[in-house]
Amino acid sequence: MESQQRIPPEVKARIEAFKKIREQEKKIQENMKKIKYKVAILSGKGGVGKSFVTASLAFAMSYLGRKVGVLDADIYGPSIPKMMGVQGETVMATTDGRIIPVTAPLGVKVLSIGLLLPQEDVPVIWRGTLSTSAIREMLAYADWGTLDYLFIDLPPGTGDEQLTIAQLIRDLTGTIIVTIPSDVSRVVVAKAINFARKMNVDIIGVVENMSYFECPDGSKHYIFGEGAAKKISEQYGVRFLGEIPIDPRISRANDAGEPFFVKYPDSKASKAILELAEKIVEIVEKNMDR
Ligand SMILES: Nc1ncnc2c1ncn2[C@@H]1O[C@H](COP(=O)(O)OP(=O)(O)OP(=O)(O)O)[C@@H](O)[C@H]1O
Ligand SMILES: [Mg+2]
Repeated sequence: MESQQRIPPEVKARIEAFKKIREQEKKIQENMKKIKYKVAILSGKGGVGKSFVTASLAFAMSYLGRKVGVLDADIYGPSIPKMMGVQGETVMATTDGRIIPVTAPLGVKVLSIGLLLPQEDVPVIWRGTLSTSAIREMLAYADWGTLDYLFIDLPPGTGDEQLTIAQLIRDLTGTIIVTIPSDVSRVVVAKAINFARKMNVDIIGVVENMSYFECPDGSKHYIFGEGAAKKISEQYGVRFLGEIPIDPRISRANDAGEPFFVKYPDSKASKAILELAEKIVEIVEKNMDR
């Protein structure tokens, strides 16, 4: 009988690991309860401006009077700290071990693996399991306080990180899909839409970034093609949220960590960003009416 009572050490270790995961998931749910709207920024494709749209929306929502946080879930290429002007800031912890996000311009709270690693040019060489466990840790132990919006910047694709966010944030408000007007992007974005649908995540809508370039004489040049987001919107029945033009000053403002629409309030891109934020307020705060 005695042999039946003894639990082998490896089983004990597994039980302990399982308990830790359950505890972490409980903490994630507690943390997420204090945040009204959780919005993930998705796109199948890399380099289309997800991080720029995330940072701009966060700044714009804060400008509209909302309490806002940004979680950078891009473990391998975190660009949020630099774009939001907090690169190199030190993340502090509470006495009970919770991580305190840093504060970016306009009072936006920011947390990113880029703030937790010692040097910005050292690559993270981790397997996917470690990347997702870093995301889990940030979701469970970040001390956001209460927020109206948490925007989550995701890496490109529909892999482990996207899956982790969709599964762990059970009451995710929805996702915003970013594309550029090219056909190549359109095809990859369709995958992102189907991914969100498979995961039962609401799609708030699709944003077209780098839609056109306007010359000083007012002529518009469609560098990457024209109308892809509208086509996607019609083909897949998702809302078209707006288009943001190419503006070289955007890239410079991003590199300097400055909110673009504050620095260049009269530009078309700034107006587009504010309109986008207002539209999202309309949709999200009126309870995803579609
Ligand atoms: N509308 C725009 N006009 C000019 N430059 C832009 C615009 N949108 C984004 N950029 C610039 O394009 C580059 C890519 O943007 P960003 O890093 O936001 O893309 P991403 O989709 O997050 O990329 P990744 O897939 O690597 O995460 C950045 O240098 C950014 O400053
Ligand atoms: Mg990015």
